[in-house]
Amino acid sequence: MKNTSRHDAWSAGDSYDAYMGRWSRLIAERFLEWIDVREGLDWLEIGCGTGALSYSILARCDPASLIAVEPSEGFVEAARRNVPDQRAGFHVGDAEILPIDDSSRDIAVSALVLNFVLDKQKALSEMVRVLRPGGAVAFYVWDYPGGGVEFMQSFWDAAASLDPAACDLAEDKRFPDCTQERLIELADSVGLEEIKSAAIEVPTIFTDFEDYWHPFTLGAGPAPGYCLSLESDARQRLKKVLQDCLLQRADGSIALNARAWAINAEVP
Ligand SMILES: C[S@@+](CC[C@H](N)C(=O)[O-])C[C@H]1O[C@@H](n2cnc3c(N)ncnc32)[C@H](O)[C@@H]1O
Repeated sequence: MKNTSRHDAWSAGDSYDAYMGRWSRLIAERFLEWIDVREGLDWLEIGCGTGALSYSILARCDPASLIAVEPSEGFVEAARRNVPDQRAGFHVGDAEILPIDDSSRDIAVSALVLNFVLDKQKALSEMVRVLRPGGAVAFYVWDYPGGGVEFMQSFWDAAASLDPAACDLAEDKRFPDCTQERLIELADSVGLEEIKSAAIEVPTIFTDFEDYWHPFTLGAGPAPGYCLSLESDARQRLKKVLQDCLLQRADGSIALNARAWAINAEVP
């Protein structure tokens, strides 16, 4: 079996923030607007990374408490630094075996995570297990199969034009389940009810080509991990292809778009 996850490096918080965190913070805000839940709840967040969604939950939802679980120790440390708040606790843990008591939380959320979890049904069942009756499960993943994350898709298209091996590593091929239909089916398969779904989009504007390219050279995440694995010559060739194909506006900026599919559902 091909090991397509070998470049998924989740550890260096600063590198992650430069590549993805700056956009995941924007999309977290849109997601919370969409789910629109009341104040005073006990929240659980799965795969909090460096704390993008955690920060927004604390800033705008006035939770009673937030427990966040994340397998990367480096990210847990970064989240603790980025989100110093007495209502929040950040713990090393895995979505498939949550270190949380049954029926102890009101809402379980996860941002851009489920596609990386090996057994998604198990992860969702775990979220259901720890929620009180009537609790909410809400999550979102990038629309990889629809090419919805344009900055990432451009990278993989350019990489595949130079290196056939990059085709298997591209996230649109690796994560075919990130469609609206499949996500609704997944929520339904664990017994969730009142399933709602929406596309959530954010603009991703890069000030110039370097602002686009540099985060790929930092190694945090599948595409940057692949970029860093290339020999210097190959990396320069990839950079040149991207430079030639990305549309730059008169001021040098590059305007792209990123779309996620979100689900919001209820535990019976
Ligand atoms: C794209 S990042 C998203 C991070 C953060 N939620 C955000 O919105 O910026 C994917 C995250 O999923 C986490 N992850 C991967 N496998 C996981 C698992 N089995 N259980 C929980 N989290 C996982 C990674 O460590 C990483 O932090």
